Amino acid sequence: MTLAPRTTDRAESPRRQPPQVFPPGFRWGAATAAYQVEGAVREAGRTPSIWDTFSHTPGRVTDGHTGDLATDHYHRFREDVALMAELGLKAYRFSISWSRVQPTGRGPALEAGLDFYRRLTDELLAHGIQPVATLYHWDLPQELEDAGGWPARATAERFGEYAHLAAEALGDRVALWTTLNEPWCSAFLGYGSGVHAPGRTDPADALRAAHHLNLAHGRAVAALRAALPRSAELAISLNLHQVRALTERHADLDAARRIDAVGNRIFTGPLLHGGYPADLKADTGHLVDWEKLVHPGDEAAIGAPIDLLGLNYYTPTLVSEAADGVGGNAHDPHGSSEHSPWPGAEHVLFHLPPGRTTEMGWSIDPTGLYDLITETARAKPGLPLLITENGAAFADTLAADGTVHDPERIAYLHGHLAAVHRAIEDGADVRGYFLWSLLDNFEWSYGYHKRFGAIYVDYPTQRRIPKSSAAWYARTVRANALAE
Ligand code: NOJ
Repeated sequence: MTLAPRTTDRAESPRRQPPQVFPPGFRWGAATAAYQVEGAVREAGRTPSIWDTFSHTPGRVTDGHTGDLATDHYHRFREDVALMAELGLKAYRFSISWSRVQPTGRGPALEAGLDFYRRLTDELLAHGIQPVATLYHWDLPQELEDAGGWPARATAERFGEYAHLAAEALGDRVALWTTLNEPWCSAFLGYGSGVHAPGRTDPADALRAAHHLNLAHGRAVAALRAALPRSAELAISLNLHQVRALTERHADLDAARRIDAVGNRIFTGPLLHGGYPADLKADTGHLVDWEKLVHPGDEAAIGAPIDLLGLNYYTPTLVSEAADGVGGNAHDPHGSSEHSPWPGAEHVLFHLPPGRTTEMGWSIDPTGLYDLITETARAKPGLPLLITENGAAFADTLAADGTVHDPERIAYLHGHLAAVHRAIEDGADVRGYFLWSLLDNFEWSYGYHKRFGAIYVDYPTQRRIPKSSAAWYARTVRANALAE
């Protein structure tokens, strides 16, 4: 946690000399997630996930967009892998749709569903691209939500079983696994503010969901270790909020502490530091009974060693104590809702830092990424880091000459990769970087309106058009050094 707002400094300026070369073997990649790209939601026995239900509920997603077709990656994955190869990518991070491979969230695997991931990973390997599988990127099988969802402890046990069957089926070709993507969003946007599926708004359930997601990670690590070769690498991707206090006043520092507790340390505590922090339990003790929620042995299971920690970063989070005691999330990067996604920190006011923003309204500040990496590296020495997501949405348009020119995205990526490089120079062990996203896709409650891709998708035709940022990224990947 950094306690004062900062602005982009000279280290991220595009003209830094000498050339910023990355370590040998740096994993250059791009990322997507199943519900955001696959489509084919009723194919080969797949059943609905909470995102199918949510997106089909009027009023939940802008303009009623759904992932029914998305970018049709399920059918066009060969074309997409060929594009990855043209970019020179070394790795592709995708997620497995749980309800495609185990439709009810229980019992045996559905081979027809697994076959899609066998075809995809074979295609990647044939092109020399390392598959990086995420087991859970927010699409819980609807049947498990109907049985209680993440607030129910049984869901963590189901996740362990699912991890086992995924590892048995794909362990011969996937060497790097991440268990959960951004569990903060699953818990607090899904069950707290309700802006994500399943759209529930109970702060106590959000906290229960967070613990059960942590436990699910622990169960999955145990299952993966048992089923995979010893060489397999295991990780989790967290969106640790780079929390900054508006002023050094005690009340503002305490607001930042509370957000750090329920935003970050609720995950890193048990994952990396032996258990849930006392201040988090004190802040939220009126909502849940932590003694009952956390069973003996849970924290040890959650804290099983991992090989890499994945960090997803987009923007810093600037907060103060609300002067009138009423919180405000108009400038919360996670969207506004009448329900707070921050149990125990409801009286916190979110601020938009000065300077430029992306199309999401998120402030652009690469120092947030530098601070996040160096602080995490200091907090857990010896644990290698992977930037599993970073990128930006801008209002890209297809020009009459058939090109998409996105200089703002190039500037964003340049600034953030310079920050990664500087963190490495300053001693952080960062092993790779995955651009979010390979191609434009379904941006959750914003539908197709926000474009994060290096490759433009013309939705009416599903034509893929690499943007100028794709060419820039390809030059960077090939040189293993930041391109001008
Ligand atoms: C994080 C999520 O993992 C991803 O699914 C989303 O599209 C990006 N952030 C951009 O909001």
